[in-house]
Amino acid sequence: MFANNDRTGHAHDALDVAGIGIGPSNLSLASLLDGLSNVKAHFYERQPVFNWHPGMMLPDVELQSSYLKDLVTPVMPTSRWSFVSYLVAHKRLYAFLNAQYEAVPRREFAHYLAWVASQLKNLSFNAVVRDVSYEKNQFHLRFDNGSVAANNLVLGTGTTPFVPAWATPFLGDTCFHNSEAAYRLAPLKAARIAVIGGGQSGGEVVEALLNAKSELKELNWFSRRHNFEPINDTAFSNQVFSPEYVYAYLNLNSDQKLEALKASVLTSDGLSISTINNIYRRLYSLRYLENRDIDAKLSPNRDVIQMEADKNGYRLIVRNRFDGGVEVFHADAIILATGYQFKLPDAVAGLQDRIQFDRHNRPVLDDRYCLNWSGPKHNRIFAQNAGRYSHGIADSQLSLMAWRSAHIINSLLGQAHFDLEPHDSQVNWLSSGHASLNQNVAVDY
Ligand SMILES: Cc1cc2nc3c(=O)[nH]c(=O)nc-3n(C[C@H](O)[C@H](O)[C@H](O)COP(=O)(O)OP(=O)(O)OC[C@H]3O[C@@H](n4cnc5c(N)ncnc54)[C@H](O)[C@@H]3O)c2cc1C
Ligand SMILES: NC(=O)c1ccc[n+]([C@@H]2O[C@H](COP(=O)([O-])OP(=O)(O)OC[C@H]3O[C@@H](n4cnc5c(N)ncnc54)[C@H](OP(=O)(O)O)[C@@H]3O)[C@@H](O)[C@H]2O)c1
Repeated sequence: MFANNDRTGHAHDALDVAGIGIGPSNLSLASLLDGLSNVKAHFYERQPVFNWHPGMMLPDVELQSSYLKDLVTPVMPTSRWSFVSYLVAHKRLYAFLNAQYEAVPRREFAHYLAWVASQLKNLSFNAVVRDVSYEKNQFHLRFDNGSVAANNLVLGTGTTPFVPAWATPFLGDTCFHNSEAAYRLAPLKAARIAVIGGGQSGGEVVEALLNAKSELKELNWFSRRHNFEPINDTAFSNQVFSPEYVYAYLNLNSDQKLEALKASVLTSDGLSISTINNIYRRLYSLRYLENRDIDAKLSPNRDVIQMEADKNGYRLIVRNRFDGGVEVFHADAIILATGYQFKLPDAVAGLQDRIQFDRHNRPVLDDRYCLNWSGPKHNRIFAQNAGRYSHGIADSQLSLMAWRSAHIINSLLGQAHFDLEPHDSQVNWLSSGHASLNQNVAVDY
């Protein structure tokens, strides 16, 4: 039973902050709050245990970011909840280093996250937040078995699989989003499979399909991008994952933000070089060395615009953005690797009328990761992984999650508990007259 009381039934004051969802974002916040006795915080997750994107835990998948950008290290390297601390606790620091991974296996990073989650006391699992109301200057979170009051909320419910409208009537065993791939690929019996979406998820699904022993005979992979574009993982490009870039980005108006976001998409959403090489080499081997009979077709510049059932499976209507043609493809199974998007969790639907949305129907996030809502300023609704448009491309990645958590903690405490003053960046993003307009975000709480 969830309630603001202890085991003896004595009522406590409301929590200072309640977190909805425990993925990496809120786990980072919970880790940094651990030991801070002046913030009473608790986090609630609907899954029975911590589980990081289980539906995409395909064989040999890798982390796309440095393990030093873990839950805590960028702002609190002495924390016991770091990735290195996990390695030491499991007596495999030397073994890990000797493995010389170019990228950490995602399975290993997921174990690390689950290890932290299994020890923090400020987390509850099997706790679906059904709805949130606001009464008498407090938020009230309702669960199936109780409720909890809190002065502030942090939404950490992640992003939702994006399924194009033309695919929704067909969702099922032979048409599904990649977020279910780990469960649905093995039992899939299909000779012709189409994968739609040329991002990292699409790449990982294609790699898994090519490596599996299955009855696959024909594979079509569609990318709407100009090509199967690699991630831009180089020194200057990676500056967009720095606090200094975010501080600069916050100065832009919404049109300028959109332009900057478009220009930086491939720093985050391109295909890992290892995935590209693995797919290319697998195709090479199948064709020239193994003489296996898989007809694999890669189709970039393709916008899938319609899907229909036909007698043997599905028909896809595809627009070729390269030459303007319209094509028809057939498949027995469709895997939608069409991305994810942020939306407010259903649980806060009751507050929706009090929350400000922009002209694209996205909730407006202020510079301190708070939703603009009509309630009192001291009752804040923070949102993690919701600021891709407002704070830049890094917001939907792990890279700055510890730094973002530190901002939220500073706001909750009303003081600069973590030093978040920007470094002296060598990259000049803003024109000189603009230079320090947003400094106050780092220091003024
Ligand atoms: C397959 C995949 C791999 C990725 N790998 C990387 C990577 O290597 N590097 C990188 O920088 N980024 C990566 N990302 C991007 C991003 O970092 C991850 O999506 C990350 O998991 C986001 O964390 P989150 O906590 O914001 O959301 P999530 O991980 O989605 O967690 C949200 C949690 O909220 C819970 N929840 C939702 N609603 C409720 C409710 N009403 N009540 C209770 N709980 C609820 C959900 O069950 C879920 O556990 C990856 C994304 C994907 C899809
Ligand atoms: N190993 C890892 O670390 C890992 C694994 C998976 C995902 N991720 C991360 O998670 C995030 C999401 O990745 P993702 O691959 O799921 O999503 P994504 O990067 O958004 O890619 C989805 C792709 O689907 C395309 N698409 C959407 N509708 C389409 C249609 N009708 N026809 C053709 N193409 C269509 C989109 O085209 P447009 O580009 O034109 O919109 C986009 O390129 C990324 O940041 C990624 O790096 C990481």
